[in-house]
Amino acid sequence: MAKKKQPAPKTAPSANPMWGGHYAAGPAAIMAEINASVDIDKRLYAQDIRASQAHAAMLAAQGILSAKDGKAIAKGLREILREIESGTFQFSKALEDVHMNIEARLREKIGEAAGRLHTARSRNDQVATDFRLWLRDELDALDVGLRDLQSALIDKAEQHASLTMPGFTHLQPAQPITFGHHLLAYVEMIGRDRARLVDARNRANEMPLGAAALAGTSFPIDRHRVAKELGFVKPMANSLDAVSARDFALEFLAAATILGTHLSRLAEEITIWVSPSFGFIKLSEAFTTGSSIMPQKRNPDAAELVRAKVGRLLGAFTALTVIMKGLPLAYAKDMQEDKEQVFDAADTLRLSIAAMAGMVRDMQPQPVALEEALKHGFITATDLADWLVRAANIPFRDAHHITGKAVLLAEQKSCRLDELSLRDMQSVDKRITKDVFGVLSPDSAVNSRKSLGGTAPGMVKVATKQARKTYLKS
Ligand code: ARG
Repeated sequence: MAKKKQPAPKTAPSANPMWGGHYAAGPAAIMAEINASVDIDKRLYAQDIRASQAHAAMLAAQGILSAKDGKAIAKGLREILREIESGTFQFSKALEDVHMNIEARLREKIGEAAGRLHTARSRNDQVATDFRLWLRDELDALDVGLRDLQSALIDKAEQHASLTMPGFTHLQPAQPITFGHHLLAYVEMIGRDRARLVDARNRANEMPLGAAALAGTSFPIDRHRVAKELGFVKPMANSLDAVSARDFALEFLAAATILGTHLSRLAEEITIWVSPSFGFIKLSEAFTTGSSIMPQKRNPDAAELVRAKVGRLLGAFTALTVIMKGLPLAYAKDMQEDKEQVFDAADTLRLSIAAMAGMVRDMQPQPVALEEALKHGFITATDLADWLVRAANIPFRDAHHITGKAVLLAEQKSCRLDELSLRDMQSVDKRITKDVFGVLSPDSAVNSRKSLGGTAPGMVKVATKQARKTYLKS
């Protein structure tokens, strides 16, 4: 009888050379699979190399590393950066993560000296440092995108500062506003989002490196020097906090989610406005898609997708919140799950912001449809009430009541408020004179709202100038 072949053991070939000193065998294949993060955290390669360079330079300056080894490490790291950037570097899952991939390659290149780079350092402070460096750069890039979106909104607002459209509450016609005023509301929201991200950046901008595994190190390191070299405001004060903290990532995700709600609201308005039932704006072929069955369709897919993306952002925020809750100090491997969420949120935001800026530049308001829409919903009723207060000195509450009756009459006659005759008006209240007709058109309504922050075209023009100064100055 032929001898049955034994199935190959499901383990990686050998212990991890980076930490396997007391390990006889390699991990189970499934262990290696769940443990490896390199497919995701290789995005940190540039930050990892930069932080290692600063760390090695400090070790050499402090005499912890010989000048010769320091030089060899610096040169090796520079070459590795080039290899990764030119696509020749081979990342290996067996080496778990970006940190160990780079260190292993350094050993191949410069030999034993590579093993000295990890003196007075742990992957715990290393990854926290890399991640903060990465987020810092990403926040800067997001700020550029948001500024561009504000610029698109301000340009469009300026072009249409006097274009009257219905303003809604409860999605019911409320009062006339200007198109420019509407867009400037989003400029303000995004202004606050930018401020939130700047805040998040400031708090993220402290350096974990030097905390080592969790307790600090017995080597005479100079954390201030490394912090300065890497552009951090200062080294983090507590070594346990330095390796355990992920609130910088949570804060980013929270701010990202809030920003996502703003983008989503604008996306929803665009979706409503382009619907032929409203027809307030047109989007060109560049930002719409057709239907495979209905030849007439122009669907605002980009807007719909931006509207949806906030779900991903909140998902990322929720995931990391749950990952972090209840973790005892200091580092725990749970935290390796942080990067996927943050990377995805950042990518999602970049795409959404760019798509939104594109749509804003593309959208063309439709004056005829807007004018038609203004004819419905007795949209200048508040102006009639205000007139009664001003011209006849009637308390606002009573003026509101009288106006309600005028609306009812117009409803019965199937006409607009300004189509009621003076006699109709006076049948509602004798104190009404022909002067009332001066306030009942949508244009006069917007022109009258000159209060600070109001919708009058003159105010909107001033506001666009102010917004440019506040948000677009470089
Ligand atoms: N890949 C790890 C992470 O992202 C790096 C830190 C690993 N630390 C450790 N003690 N195993 O969290």
